[in-house]
Amino acid sequence: MMVRNLSIFFKLAYFRGDYRLDCGLSTFNISRYLSAGWLDIGLSNIFTGNSTHFFVRRTFVSQALQAATVPNFEVTTEVTDHASHQLIPEYMEAYGAGLKKAKMRDMPQRRARFFHLTQMLQITRGVPGNTAEAGVFRGLSSFLICHFLRREIATSNGETHFMIDSFEGLSKPVEKDGKFPVKRHEEGAFTHTSVEIVQETLSDFGGVNIHKGWIPKVFAELPEQKYRFVHIDVDVYEPTLASFRYFFPRMSPGGIMMCDDFGPWAKNNWPGCIRAVKEFADESGQAYAVMNTGNVMFIKR
Ligand SMILES: C[S@@+](CC[C@H](N)C(=O)[O-])C[C@H]1O[C@@H](n2cnc3c(N)ncnc32)[C@H](O)[C@@H]1O
Repeated sequence: MMVRNLSIFFKLAYFRGDYRLDCGLSTFNISRYLSAGWLDIGLSNIFTGNSTHFFVRRTFVSQALQAATVPNFEVTTEVTDHASHQLIPEYMEAYGAGLKKAKMRDMPQRRARFFHLTQMLQITRGVPGNTAEAGVFRGLSSFLICHFLRREIATSNGETHFMIDSFEGLSKPVEKDGKFPVKRHEEGAFTHTSVEIVQETLSDFGGVNIHKGWIPKVFAELPEQKYRFVHIDVDVYEPTLASFRYFFPRMSPGGIMMCDDFGPWAKNNWPGCIRAVKEFADESGQAYAVMNTGNVMFIKR
């Protein structure tokens, strides 16, 4: 894959003139960036190492690269400062495969956020316990979790992974959630999914455990067990806080509980998540770390 990436990369870098690249959902006009000299600068920069001065240019190069190798990617001109994951082919391949399975579109911030997710999962290798995700939607992030679990144990079939979702969208936002979640709830956000769709997304991991129901009630169905890694991605205040309270006491020492949508990187759209994180930190006395993609994590000591 690396060789393929590099050869495409050379082609893009040395091909001067009008060059259009068709890439699934969108078309990226390379010539604009070639004539502006962006791609050549990116090339020398990749081989000489990182330099913040040329970072934006390198981002464009890697976006072009992705578009050339994974058809589902939508190339955007968004400039991010968290794009270096794009140079890690294994992650990009797994993410591209997950998008196809889940029939979802690429988004730069989602791509970066799930990269952090998989990195943090990997650091919990050897910690006793299972993995779980509260807030599954169509199964993309669970697909990535299962992919990287299989990297640790080749025979892993997802049987140690537990997925929890209403599969009927968000629960009703409360005052602490602010306006945006109310709008999304009214629009029926995240309702275009089902247990069957998630089974299809995760069809390479036939052993996964899917629990359909509303948080917190659905937790009663889960087996009493320890966790090494949990991803909480339910967007609104009440189920986020309830998930922290359920999972954190069940984490093994060294385990990591991650959550999504911590603004300002989530455009401050989900203030209820921030409230839930802060309230849980206060009541439990636990510290948390925030990443520039909107992931936040608690580490069990
Ligand atoms: C942002 S989506 C999850 C995205 C997912 N992690 C992915 O990989 O794309 C949020 C999910 O939380 C679920 N959800 C929200 N509130 C819930 C609740 N109270 N109980 C169960 N599921 C809930 C929704 O059904 C939705 O699928």
